[in-house]
Amino acid sequence: MKKKSVKNSISKKTAWSLILAVKEAYHQISNNQNKVSFAIQIRGTKYSFTYDILNRQVLRKNFELNKCCSDYLDLYLPIILNDSESPYIIAHLAQTLDGFIATNSGESKYISSEDNLEHIHMLRGISDIILVGAHTVSLDNPRLTTRLVKGPSPMRIILDKSNSLNKKFHVFKNKDNNGYKIISDNIKCNADNIFQLPLVKDYFDLKDVTNLLTKLNKKIVFIEGGGKTVSSFLNSNLLNKLHLCVSPIIIGKGRSSFILEKKIRMNDINDYKINHYKMGNDILLDLDLS
Ligand SMILES: NC(=O)c1ccc[n+]([C@@H]2O[C@H](COP(=O)([O-])OP(=O)(O)OC[C@H]3O[C@@H](n4cnc5c(N)ncnc54)[C@H](OP(=O)(O)O)[C@@H]3O)[C@@H](O)[C@H]2O)c1
Repeated sequence: MKKKSVKNSISKKTAWSLILAVKEAYHQISNNQNKVSFAIQIRGTKYSFTYDILNRQVLRKNFELNKCCSDYLDLYLPIILNDSESPYIIAHLAQTLDGFIATNSGESKYISSEDNLEHIHMLRGISDIILVGAHTVSLDNPRLTTRLVKGPSPMRIILDKSNSLNKKFHVFKNKDNNGYKIISDNIKCNADNIFQLPLVKDYFDLKDVTNLLTKLNKKIVFIEGGGKTVSSFLNSNLLNKLHLCVSPIIIGKGRSSFILEKKIRMNDINDYKINHYKMGNDILLDLDLS
């Protein structure tokens, strides 16, 4: 029998509810499937579709999508419905046209548009954990919650090897008490919400960090900056996806998006597989690094 189709395009609100429900449902589906089907009830209407995990596309659906909602599915479903056995790691940076994520003094609010800010909150909403470097907290004092969109605020972890950040920063003050730090295991500390890892040449080995995330059963990890932290995951080939939002502004000098360790020769450079999306005045580049 032919399935009944939801004729009008679904709203942004419904598309987002659908994405959150898919995330919830996917936890209960066994891995190792190439295709998954969903039938999800939202405010009295049933939305069903099949998703091809390998080719990252919706195959059949009983509803129509306008461009904006179609972008939502293209952006968020490949992250949620990933087939990675280790934590799936996505990083996001908003940069100027000339490649900076902040001024030299560390000002970055806000390089990108409101639409991109909403996208960042959506990435938070579909993630199991948000991870940032210590400088992002000391300079921006972010909350790292999903206050602009419906959805849960995940656990937040700050890489703070010398335990320099005090409890006054917003990220540790939220009433969910879900802000944590990773500090060096050389430091004697019995405070709450602390993980300790060894330092290797003065830095955490990022494999130790991802092992910790695996032990915590965190499947989708969102690295929200800054440049040094995102670059260290990129250098270690640990990123599955990078979202780079490019804003049409030029600041001349500032803090770089990427700090790459290797000496690069033009002949050795590989192109990334890329999609792009308009967000307000910005362009979001979606780089698949898997
Ligand atoms: N535009 C954007 O999208 C965006 C997003 C986020 C932040 N920002 C801006 O970016 C700036 C901060 O970025 P940033 O690149 O300077 O610094 P960052 O990445 O926020 O923090 C770097 C620091 O994190 C710690 N860290 C990172 N990886 C580590 C590892 N493997 N082991 C141990 N510690 C590690 C180290 O702290 P210590 O060495 O100090 O212990 C390191 O110096 C701020 O100005 C902020 O406003 C912009």
